[in-house]
Amino acid sequence: MQHLMTEKFIYNAVIITPKEKEVVFKMPKLDPIAEFRSDHAKVRDMLLELIDAVSKKDATKALEIMIRLDKIGGPHFRWEEESLYLTFEKFFGRQYLEYLLGVHDRIVKRGRELVEILSKGKISEEQAKILPDIIRSDILSHPIECEGIVLFAEKLTQKELNELAENLERIRKEDIPLLEWAERIKDAEREKRGLKARVLA
Ligand SMILES: [Fe+2]
Repeated sequence: MQHLMTEKFIYNAVIITPKEKEVVFKMPKLDPIAEFRSDHAKVRDMLLELIDAVSKKDATKALEIMIRLDKIGGPHFRWEEESLYLTFEKFFGRQYLEYLLGVHDRIVKRGRELVEILSKGKISEEQAKILPDIIRSDILSHPIECEGIVLFAEKLTQKELNELAENLERIRKEDIPLLEWAERIKDAEREKRGLKARVLA
């Protein structure tokens, strides 16, 4: 078996020309659309868990889920704003892009409010009733909508996909959580790109 694998490797190595080899080794390791969708699925599950924990007034568990959401949400939102949305803008236009940035701002606001409430270590009866609907309408609605953007993915070129993957790799390596990104990076990066968010209620 080992012998056969070695032979196959040598065979492959022989049939790849230097030019082809250059292309193969330059290709990013990530499939950006698969990563995009996988993040949404993870966030979906965490938000469902969060709704459950809040309904059961389990502030400790809810706060622990918020920390996980902060960690995954930071690189995801940053990549969307610095790379993905701009790549898809040619399909959905500037106005929709500004709306999506407004949605990010609203999620950040809700995230801060939730952390503040949960940090007190207690969820009141009233909060346990109201918060799940706020999480559903203002936060869970985003991964639902964001998944819809995938509709245009097959219209992207390989070059665009490679750039998306490279940017995702860079941003994930920097690994900045959501609320920290919102505090010190978001607005400056938007300004650099001439982007402004639509203000949402
Ligand atoms: Fe997203």
